[in-house]
Amino acid sequence: MHRTRSGRTRSPRRQRLVSLIALAGLILMTGCGSAFPTFRPVSSQGKIIVHQFVVVLILSAVVFLIVFGVLGWVLLHYRGQEGDDEPSQTAGNKTLEIIWTSIPIVMLIGLFVYSAFTMKSVDATDSSALQINVIGHQWWWEYQYPSLGIDTASELHLPVGQPVQLNITGADVIHSFWVPDLGWKMDAIPGKNNTMSLNLTKAGTFDGSCAEFCGSEHAWMRIRVIAQTQSDFNNWTKMMRSPSPQPMSALEKQGQQIFNSSTCVNCHVFSRVGPSLTHLGSRQWLGSGVMDNTSENLANWIMNVQNIKPGALMPDFHYSPEQLDALVAYLEGQK
Ligand code: CUA
Repeated sequence: MHRTRSGRTRSPRRQRLVSLIALAGLILMTGCGSAFPTFRPVSSQGKIIVHQFVVVLILSAVVFLIVFGVLGWVLLHYRGQEGDDEPSQTAGNKTLEIIWTSIPIVMLIGLFVYSAFTMKSVDATDSSALQINVIGHQWWWEYQYPSLGIDTASELHLPVGQPVQLNITGADVIHSFWVPDLGWKMDAIPGKNNTMSLNLTKAGTFDGSCAEFCGSEHAWMRIRVIAQTQSDFNNWTKMMRSPSPQPMSALEKQGQQIFNSSTCVNCHVFSRVGPSLTHLGSRQWLGSGVMDNTSENLANWIMNVQNIKPGALMPDFHYSPEQLDALVAYLEGQK
């Protein structure tokens, strides 16, 4: 027991309480630092959601302070004194009960109406929006731009300032499309089309990931959004729509032959079980973010995919070093 200067003792219980409050404070402060991207989103929809979050947070804080303020005041003001008799007991106070029932009801109705308006404006679809199909596969994302004739994977390119509508679904199991900077998240459910409207306000690269456990490689189902100015986006679509470059060197030609004569072409071109590899050389990632797109990584991926991403539909291939070189040269040349 501590003896304070006034000679009064401080009970162990009080010491424990002080340590507990200090610990809670420390834990709370671990959240300090730069704000999580969700709180400074780059889409107007995300901004509307954050606005509602802040309003609800402030309202909750006011309620919390009033309730615990009154509780604390009552505990201190009416605490027992030596020689107190049991206080007289009262029960039932119609006026008080009406007040403390109606205030929460009014607040809840207000929040309900506010939420309904928020949902309406966030969900609002623009008929002129660029339609993009986002399809979750185990374990990669497919991005189709039907009006532009583009079907790609790995990185989702989006224009800034032009309304976009993502039509999100799943090919096999439930996935979830989550990029914190966009401000909201949408499940990708097989057989169901969930939409996400976006009006991006800022260019940049924004990373996310699948947010619904979907199998052993769920953690390697990353998302990269490349938000571009309208002219950069137009350049990208032009590049994607242009025919793939014809292999120039003898090595690349040999690689193309290997690609077309082995199983590669079945899954990546015809049956589309695997992602489209058109303009693969222009992508940043391989295997949905499991590694950067370099020649060495691509060679490693082709030979050891089951080590890198166990359970992926693609098997390990056993090419000779020469064949592998040719295949990689061909694929990386597809810019
Ligand atoms: Cu897809 Cu988790």
